[in-house]
This record gives sequence, structure tokens and C-alpha cells, in this order.
Amino acid sequence: MAFSQAFLDELAARNPIEDVVGHYVALTRRGSNLFGLCPFHSEKTPSFSVAPDKGIYYCFGCHKGGGAVNFIMEVENLDYPDAVRFLAKQAGMEVPDDPEYRSAYKEQERLRNLCKDAARYFHQQLNGPEGQPGRDYLAKRGLSRATVTRFGLGFAPQGWSNLLDTMTKNGYTKEELLKVGLIQKSQKGSLHDRFHNRLMFPIIDVRGNVIGFGGRVMDDSKPKYLNSPESVIFNKRKNLFALNVAKKSKQGRLILTEGYMDAIALHQYGFDCAVASLGTALTEEHAQLLAKYTSQVVLTYDGDEAGQNATRRAIPMLEKAGLQVKILRMQGAKDPDEFLKKYGADKFRVLLDRSENQAEYRLLSLQNRFDLEQDDQRVAFLREAAELISTFGAPVQREVYGARAAEAAGVTPEAMKLEINRAFKRRKAQEQKRQTQADMNVEAQRQPREKELRYSNLRSARAEELLFAQLYKSPEHLQDLKLLPQQFSSPLLGKAFHMLQQQQESGQQPSLSAMAGELTADEMSHLSRVLSDNDLLVSEETMEQCAGVIRSEYQKSLLSGEDAVRNWKEQFKNKQRYGG
Ligand code: GTP
Ligand code: MN
Repeated sequence: MAFSQAFLDELAARNPIEDVVGHYVALTRRGSNLFGLCPFHSEKTPSFSVAPDKGIYYCFGCHKGGGAVNFIMEVENLDYPDAVRFLAKQAGMEVPDDPEYRSAYKEQERLRNLCKDAARYFHQQLNGPEGQPGRDYLAKRGLSRATVTRFGLGFAPQGWSNLLDTMTKNGYTKEELLKVGLIQKSQKGSLHDRFHNRLMFPIIDVRGNVIGFGGRVMDDSKPKYLNSPESVIFNKRKNLFALNVAKKSKQGRLILTEGYMDAIALHQYGFDCAVASLGTALTEEHAQLLAKYTSQVVLTYDGDEAGQNATRRAIPMLEKAGLQVKILRMQGAKDPDEFLKKYGADKFRVLLDRSENQAEYRLLSLQNRFDLEQDDQRVAFLREAAELISTFGAPVQREVYGARAAEAAGVTPEAMKLEINRAFKRRKAQEQKRQTQADMNVEAQRQPREKELRYSNLRSARAEELLFAQLYKSPEHLQDLKLLPQQFSSPLLGKAFHMLQQQQESGQQPSLSAMAGELTADEMSHLSRVLSDNDLLVSEETMEQCAGVIRSEYQKSLLSGEDAVRNWKEQFKNKQRYGG
């Protein structure tokens, strides 16, 4: 990592984990640890723990964990170097001269400037003589000049190298243009503009940087939209269109749409809280980003099958981020843009205020699948509705929606209630069974949630976990153990063990925070879990036993795996050769 170890050590010392987390989470002490409500998932009872002595946090609910830097990365949505800078600034520390970081940062700065200049260029083109088709199209779509200016819309004219020529003249290199995907290489190897004869939508992050573009054709040709590819400055999973404007809205919620045009039209009609995803499905990162600016999200996806599927997928993600989710249902128009033009802002406001919570939404979606005029379909509907309603958390919710379903299908609320209770009991029994099974299979439970981190050898892994946690607390035992990192069955624990050795050799205290630069967020979470789960101090004898297990399992793996086959083949060959 580019930051010096001494700097990172001081950073850790000056940013005690309980202080860093304490800025965001109300913590109460319980024993040697502190507990609070997890900032990364929605919960009512605290499962988020902070261990000041280990310098880590870990959530027993959502399994996120790590050191102070990880926490800032997660909560402030920063990458590793920026999170380090953030903490340094908070602690009043000078960030050391760091050529590698500086050059990466400078490069990104240049790419952001390039995109800003490109946006300016497209905008000028829209207003210039070449921009007539673009202006005509915008007029046809009913966008006002003010809207065009607010979103910095632009136009990429006909031709293969307009932008390429202009930007290289302005001092940017072809490599830089390629890096942000504004130009591309043809099969023959020549370079040309990615966008031509398209209306341009600059994509701007929450800090106001232009990071990419969407380009729309002005007729029915395909593809309708062309987007910038992902780049070092453009991550589609982490950004939303128009959030830079919507984050200042006072409307107390954010409206999430599928299309750029929908978000823009909403703004023009006075709904300045609209954002759109970037032509991709909603991600958990999007949900967390939204949760930073609002507590309520209204989904206004298209009414078609794809839009409804997207809605169903988005709801749990948004709820997991602690957001209240409402779903706006439109009739007579396929998307908000079309609706606003047909029926106006007032009608849309009515829909917005009437938007359903997810219980209503799911029940109505279900209802729409059945023809309630027919008896057999009514029975099928009631059965599925009871199943669905039995999953609603609150008894009053089950009561209210039960009555509603009963009314829709023309049966008594009492009959429905019976059906729901039956479904409820069935579910509970199933959950119970599943829980018992899970409890019985403690071994399987130890498996990390992430596929890449799965243990190949659970017997060894348990010893490795315990040993790592012990050595983290009492690193002086590191020298006594005759153990090599490669003898660990879990590559991650082996690597962590090796990093402990290195920290010990250079005279540092073990520090998970200091490892953050070389481990992924999942890996950090996993190690935090390992440290939290193995809290008790054990005897040296136990540690020696752990080391013994690791060594013997390693030996076994050598003999059982490919090596065993190889050994056997060798013997076989020798036998043939010598007739033994
Ligand atoms: P208009 O047709 O201009 O009203 O745009 P729209 O935003 O309503 O488009 P639509 O509902 O068809 O698509 C929603 C979003 O999906 C768009 O805003 C784009 O982000 C994305 N999208 C649509 N078509 C394409 C395409 O052909 N390619 C890519 N990459 N993305 C697309
Ligand atoms: Mn549309």
C-alpha cells in the first residue's frame, strides 16, 4: 500500500474505533465492548458491536466488520485512500507525500476534467448550428430551456472525430479519452468518437463531477441509449442520475425512476426529488446511497413485466438499507414522463400521495393475477393471499389486509383469518425446523457467507480461526509456533497470519486496520467475525494443539490431493519398471 506503515499506525492511534463509529452510531457499553444499532442494515435491537481493545467493529446481523478505515469506507461511500485521507483530516494529520496515491488521484482528476469539458462541448454543440436536430427533438419531447440547462444536456453531432479532435486540441490524450470511453477503437484499430448524432445526458455524481454520459438516438434506431462504459471514475452500481440535484430537494422523499427522461420530466414538472438508475438494475450500493439522503423512496418503474420484476427486486434491497418503500402505480401511461405529459403534475401528485406501501402493492399484484369471477380462481387467490399475508410482521397488518383480501374475493373476514392463521402456523413450524437443522449443523454455520472465502477443511479452519484470534491478542507467541502461512487451509487466514508475522517483525502491534489496504471488504468483515467469535483467551497448550491440527491437516492434504495421485503413479511406474 502506498501509505507508510508509520502513518497508518498513527492514524489508527489517533482514531480510536469507538470515536470514529461514535460519530455515526449511539453506542452503549456492555462489558468490554460497545453496542449500537447497525448503520448498515435496518434493525430494532442492537447487534452492531465495537471492540475498542481490538480496534474493530462487527455486526452480528449483517456480518459487516473491519477497522476504522473500513467503517469510513462503508459509511461515507469512499474508496480506501479517500477514507484514509478523511480520517487523517479529522485527526488533524498531514497526509504524507504519497506519489503513488497522488498520481492516481491526479489521473482521476484529469479524467473528471475531461468529462466536464466534454459535457461543455456537447452542450455548446446543442446550442450551435449543428445542434438543430437535437433542439428539435428536445422540443418534441417538451423539455424547456431551463431544464436543458439544469441538467446540462448536450448534443453529439454527426461525424467520427468531432470530440476526439476537440479534446486532443485541448490537451487531453487519446489514452485518456479511451479510458473514459468517449472514444473507441475500431476493429481495424482506428480511433473514433463513441457518441454521434445523439442527445447527450451527462451523468453527474453527488459531488458535482461529470463521470459519464448517456446518449439517446433521436429516432427509432438501436440501441436507443448508449452509455459510457464503466471507468476508474464511473461506477454504475454506485451512482444515480440526477441525485446531484435531487439531494437538495425539500420534498422529504426521493422518487426512483427507470429512465433518464422520466427523472428529467419529473423535475420539470416540479418533482425535484426524482432520480434514475443508470440503465442497470438497482444495487445494494444504490440503496445505501439513497438512504444517505432520505428515509422514503417511491418506486415509479414502468408498468410492464420488466418494470414490475424490477420493482419486486428493488423492494427488499431498499428496505434492507432502512428505507421506507412506496410503490406508485400508473394507469394510462407507461412511464412518469408519458403520464405527466398526458395528465399533468396534479394528477401525478395524487398518485404520489396514494402510492402504496409494499403490503398493499404485493396483495394487489397477486390479486391482478386471478379472475375473481371464477370460483376455482377465487380459492386459489385466497390461498396464496393467506400465504402472503401470513408473512406480514404485525398482527394488525395481517388483520387489515386479510379483511381486504376477503372482501375482494367475497368471503367473510373470519374465514380468511382462519386461513391466514393456518398459513402462519405452517410457516412458523417450517422456520422452527429450519432453525433446528441449522443449529445442528454448527460446522456448516462456520462457513463464511462469501463463496470465495469458503473453507475447504473445517477441522483445520476452526483451529486456524482460534489461533489467529489468539495471536492477534498475544502476538509474542508467534515465534514459538513452528507454522508456515502456506500450511493454513484457508488462504485468507494464512495471509492474515503472514501479515501478523510481518507486523510482529517490524515491531508493530497487531492491527486489522493496518491490513485494510491489502484485503477486500468481505475479507475484513470475515476476519472481524473471526476475532469477535474467538474472544476468550486460551492456554498456550491449546494454541500448540491448534498449530498441531493445522500441521497434520496440511500433511493429510498433501497426501490425499493431487500429490497422493502423483505418488501412487510414481510407485506404479516404478513397479512396472522394476517388476516389484
Ligand atoms: P425515452 O424512450 O426517451 O422516454 O427514454 P426512457 O428513459 O423512458 O427509456 P426506457 O424506459 O426504454 O429505458 C429506461 C432506461 O433504460 C433508460 O433511461 C436507459 O438508462 C436504459 N436503456 C434503455 N434502452 C437502452 C439501450 O438500448 N441500451 C442501454 N445500454 N440502456 C438502455
Ligand atoms: Mn420514456
